[in-house]
Amino acid sequence: MSKFTVIGGNSSQDLAKKLSKKLKADLITSKVRVFPDGESKITLDGKLSKNKTIVVQSIYPPVDTNLIQTLSLVSKAKESSNEIIVIIPYMGYARQDREFLSGEIITMKVLGILFKGVGASRIIVVDIHSMIGLKHFKIKVKNVSAIPDLVYYFKKMKLKDPIVISPDQGGKERAKEFARKFECEYIALIKHRDRKTGKVQIKTSRLEEIKGRDLILVDDMISTGGSIIKATEFLRKQKCRRVFVACTHALLINGAEKKIKKSGVAKIVSVNTIPGKTSLVDISDTIAQAIK
Ligand code: R5P
Repeated sequence: MSKFTVIGGNSSQDLAKKLSKKLKADLITSKVRVFPDGESKITLDGKLSKNKTIVVQSIYPPVDTNLIQTLSLVSKAKESSNEIIVIIPYMGYARQDREFLSGEIITMKVLGILFKGVGASRIIVVDIHSMIGLKHFKIKVKNVSAIPDLVYYFKKMKLKDPIVISPDQGGKERAKEFARKFECEYIALIKHRDRKTGKVQIKTSRLEEIKGRDLILVDDMISTGGSIIKATEFLRKQKCRRVFVACTHALLINGAEKKIKKSGVAKIVSVNTIPGKTSLVDISDTIAQAIK
């Protein structure tokens, strides 16, 4: 038996397998049965290490189901292992990190209490929406960046005079980091989202400098695709060449992929924090390095 075990949660089985190979750890798979009323029944297949267990489970939709499964896996692992490292490649609820409108509950605060309560020693996430969310956790937390892996992918593509674009000011630092590694320029658009309706508008007026150039739209996540679609429609009007999307977490809710392609995006490239058709970049190496 290895010094530690990796538990592959239902939402991250493939990533957990890759990670256990890289870490030379024993992999324990979980079988999940979700009852008609929505309750999850989880069965683990294997013996847990006394030393350390790594739980790998992304919290993408169904978010609450995957969240309770993650908490249950940690709680079970704590019965046998001294140290529990929780890898949450995509952290659902990360956007609920502050009180935007009066009376709103900061769910990240609740998550901080829950993960500590079930016995998590350390949490590792990938490209969290904002570091503010992690401040609510009173245990060790680490955010790892998928940008080097995404840049590596895009470097292999043949692009014409590329320039990196952030769809909003909130993503400016991310775009800057991507552009620095990719060795090109970057621009951050001005986006407005109505906090009540969720409707998105691009407020940037004109961008002469993107004419005839290939663009890489960099974002942390795509949910409904609204931000990417509005940005692409604006960028196409400025007569750019092709628009590519580089994002970490592709949730692609309600047919978002089709709608994004229709708006003029040539290709969406995302990371396997969420498995799917667009997750062409593997983050297991980067996570393995963060654990070591
Ligand atoms: C917003 O600040 C985020 O970085 C993403 O741009 C946003 O959450 C994506 O959501 P949607 O795809 O629904 O616009």
